Amino acid sequence: MTTSGPGPKTVVVTGAASQVGFFLLPRLAAAGFRVVAVSRRPQAEATASFGRGWPGHDSTRWVTADLERPAGTTWSDGSHAWIHLGPLHLLPPVLDSGGAASVRRLVAFGSTSRFTKARSTHPRERKLVAELEAGEAGLARSCAARDIGWTLFRPTLIYGAGLDRNVMVIVAAIRRFGVFPLVGAGQGLRQPVHADDLAAACVAALDSPASVDRAYDLSGGEVLAYREMVSRIFAAAGRSPRLVPVPAVAVGFALWCLSRLPRYRDFNIEMARRMADDMVFSHAEATRDFGYRPRSFQPVVERPG
Ligand SMILES: NC(=O)c1ccc[n+]([C@@H]2O[C@H](COP(=O)([O-])OP(=O)(O)OC[C@H]3O[C@@H](n4cnc5c(N)ncnc54)[C@H](OP(=O)(O)O)[C@@H]3O)[C@@H](O)[C@H]2O)c1
Repeated sequence: MTTSGPGPKTVVVTGAASQVGFFLLPRLAAAGFRVVAVSRRPQAEATASFGRGWPGHDSTRWVTADLERPAGTTWSDGSHAWIHLGPLHLLPPVLDSGGAASVRRLVAFGSTSRFTKARSTHPRERKLVAELEAGEAGLARSCAARDIGWTLFRPTLIYGAGLDRNVMVIVAAIRRFGVFPLVGAGQGLRQPVHADDLAAACVAALDSPASVDRAYDLSGGEVLAYREMVSRIFAAAGRSPRLVPVPAVAVGFALWCLSRLPRYRDFNIEMARRMADDMVFSHAEATRDFGYRPRSFQPVVERPG
């Protein structure tokens, strides 16, 4: 899909107030698209965390809507494409209720958690995996029934806007305690992906016939051990790395305590166990089909100003 033809094309972005949306909306505007940005919150609240320097564009229209109540999605009328950055399983019911009648191209986000959490014993994580699997199947089925070309992205750990709960949780621990607990040797491999590389991938996929009806694992441009990832975050925060070996059960207990807080309710002992797991995924197919070339790990440790 291109912006050529009569007038600018319109793209719906659901989950627009997310860290990927932070980079995607300006990219879409720069590419000449008109954007309908959807959040459950009013625009001022949705974009408050984006900071004062975030470029607000005249071509972006914000709509307040909850995808769990899919009836009446008139805000998508006339749109050519849809980029879904929210929870994947919410999308198929919206498509099935006729919420994308004019849409011919769609990009949606799943997660490599579908694979990395597949053997988790934690009920919340098992539910997440089931939702991701059902979401992937539902996306293909709903799009096929409506002649919509779909592309599914499965990112690894996302960071880069200072709005994530991956790098920024580690930053918060470093700033508060000056040390970071490590289970075992912390040798499990990671491949964090910058949110702006995912935003660029969305725009590139819209213009890539090869990516229609295909799923891609989108990993970052560098593979590094968990302890090296944390050490880099220390350095980016202006601190010398201080990693303290701690038994898995102690980290698990700390995570359980944190999970009592609403913001961290998905934290659990499985996260401590996974420090030793490798979470590495090839993005070669994305490079081949739409030129995906993610950057190496460059941690961002400040929220947008
Ligand atoms: N974070 C990661 O490390 C990671 C890793 C792999 C895959 N992913 C996937 O990548 C995508 C982006 O991740 P993220 O961490 O940047 O975002 P996120 O925090 O998972 O959420 C994305 C957005 O979804 C919207 N949303 C949630 N429920 C909604 C509903 N009922 N109706 C309408 N909007 C709803 C929220 O918007 P409002 O609150 O503004 O309504 C939120 O900003 C997600 O699909 C996520 O599952 C994330």
